[in-house]
Amino acid sequence: MAKPKSFDLLLLIAVNVIVAAILTSSPPSVAAAASPSSKWAPRFLGKFSRKTEQIRYETRNFSQRLDHFSFSENPRFSQRYLISTEHWVGPDRLGPIFLYCGNEGDIAWFAANTGFVWEIAPQFGAMVLFPEHRYYGKSIPYGSREEAYRNATTLAYLTAEQALADFAVLITELKRNFSAEDCPVVLFGGSYGGMLASWMRLKYPHIAIGALASSAPILQFEDVVPKEIFYDLVSNDFKRESTSCFNTIKESWDVITAEGEKNDGLLQLTKTFRICGKLKSTEDLMDWLDSAYSYLAMVNYPYPSNFLMPLPGHPIREVCKKIDGSPVGTSTLERIFRGISVYYNYTGDVECFKLDDDPHGMDGWNWQACTEMVMPMSSGRDTSMFPAYDFNLSAYQEQCWKDFGVRPRPRWITTEFGGHDIKADLERFGSNIIFSNGLLDPWSGGGVLQNISESIVALVAPEGAHHIDLRASTNEDPDWLVDLRATEIKLIKGWIGDYYQRKRKVSDI
Ligand SMILES: *[C@@H]1O[C@H](CO)[C@@H](O)[C@H](O)[C@H]1NC(C)=O
Ligand SMILES: *[C@@H]1O[C@H](CO)[C@@H](O)[C@H](O)[C@H]1NC(C)=O
Ligand SMILES: *[C@@H]1O[C@H](CO)[C@@H](O)[C@H](O)[C@H]1NC(C)=O
Ligand SMILES: *[C@@H]1O[C@H](CO)[C@@H](O)[C@H](O)[C@H]1NC(C)=O
Ligand SMILES: *[C@@H]1O[C@H](CO)[C@@H](O)[C@H](O)[C@H]1NC(C)=O
Ligand SMILES: *[C@@H]1O[C@H](CO)[C@@H](O)[C@H](O)[C@H]1NC(C)=O
Repeated sequence: MAKPKSFDLLLLIAVNVIVAAILTSSPPSVAAAASPSSKWAPRFLGKFSRKTEQIRYETRNFSQRLDHFSFSENPRFSQRYLISTEHWVGPDRLGPIFLYCGNEGDIAWFAANTGFVWEIAPQFGAMVLFPEHRYYGKSIPYGSREEAYRNATTLAYLTAEQALADFAVLITELKRNFSAEDCPVVLFGGSYGGMLASWMRLKYPHIAIGALASSAPILQFEDVVPKEIFYDLVSNDFKRESTSCFNTIKESWDVITAEGEKNDGLLQLTKTFRICGKLKSTEDLMDWLDSAYSYLAMVNYPYPSNFLMPLPGHPIREVCKKIDGSPVGTSTLERIFRGISVYYNYTGDVECFKLDDDPHGMDGWNWQACTEMVMPMSSGRDTSMFPAYDFNLSAYQEQCWKDFGVRPRPRWITTEFGGHDIKADLERFGSNIIFSNGLLDPWSGGGVLQNISESIVALVAPEGAHHIDLRASTNEDPDWLVDLRATEIKLIKGWIGDYYQRKRKVSDI
């Protein structure tokens, strides 16, 4: 299929799904999920959500260089960061600084969805800092989004390396301003932010003493992990609920294609799936469906949540109940419609579904996916419930050239940060990183799932989904989640304790 799609966090070029006619109380959702037929990686989670918690912080700006790696004169830009010193015990007592590595979206949204960091700051006496990633939210160079996203020349400074350098420069200057040079910095991050946190610990060990990298697929590059793993994991999430649910979804693609080829087939599909306006192609419908399945796997949390969409607990179980539980004689397409309504219409507020027909909008993650973040993805013939697809690098590259006038460098990330022999490298040259992953999360396929050394630790939650550990605690948290967070706290305390001990020894000399 020629049409490209997109990924948010990490995802292929995401298909932007806009659910129309939602009551104004609901946030707009840009679901950008993977499509196996597309050249793009699926996206990490979307960008919009309401703040649920009252989090107190101050919003500040910091003037950053556009290019940290040259001495050419470029205009500077204003990086937004959120800061709270409410619980910080201050420089004299070497109060720690918790720095969340902002990822591909509005930093206020990540702050609101990273309750863990806010909840533990008081017991550590820590300052909390959420710097925004350049080119996202309000941290836009060249004065406006339109200018910044104009072309490959203006987008050239949107890279992970520049973002890490932003964090490094900001924290260094901030510490100097507070006379807090000796305060230890601990990094946090989820998804792409988790990748940044772990990479920052490796690249700037003198700036941060440790990193909690949650659901960070740092191995989802080149051939480090099988290309099929992402879609296989999504598929397994459905299969573990019910084989017939998996089979119905697997069969549905051919049914949709056949229906679409009939006279008036697209009209019929429009009616069956209650789409606003008229469906333009079966591909648009298929993209919309596979977006939902991929996101469902990411947010397959054990309790009701409202991360991307309002959803019940164990949402995949609920989808499969609808697909399997429809009366005998219900058609495959009607079953799919009922199932998918759990995702797109859980609140029952949606009058009709609007499928965005322009998924190519200039989007920061699409640019990153077209430059450094090339995560090859295929869909296997038997193990996946999605249509079979083999990743095609030439097609991917052609599309990037068309969209941005840029050529992806699929080997750059592993050259810059490693990946091929991560265990040996991290064992020798790294320390103090927690890689946490939930095995229900399709991104866990590209995660570090093995303990590497005494202090580079993999925490694996078989029942966990996308960075659930970073979310605020709830009354419904299962025991394993409570234990997981307790282990993380213990490990972080250990890093800080070691740091203080070293400081004391040095000052004794
Ligand atoms: C930060 O900068 C943005 C524009 O770059 C501006 O709109 C905003 O008012 C500034 N905020 C503060 C707190 O200075
Ligand atoms: C991008 O736009 C700027 C400003 O219009 C222009 O100077 C530059 O040559 C353009 N670059 C490319 C690669 O088209
Ligand atoms: C540090 O202080 C200077 C001078 O007051 C200010 O311009 C700068 O923005 C501060 N930097 C940070 C990171 O807060
Ligand atoms: C959404 O759910 C409500 C309540 O079940 C229903 O009345 C409505 O028709 C559904 N919308 C669509 C587009 O299916
Ligand atoms: C990969 O994409 C290129 C360019 O679009 C195309 O010519 C080629 O046939 C594709 N390869 C396969 C195996 O589909
Ligand atoms: C790694 O070690 C920690 C203890 O530091 C342990 O809790 C965890 O279960 C181990 N992880 C794996 C994947 O074995």
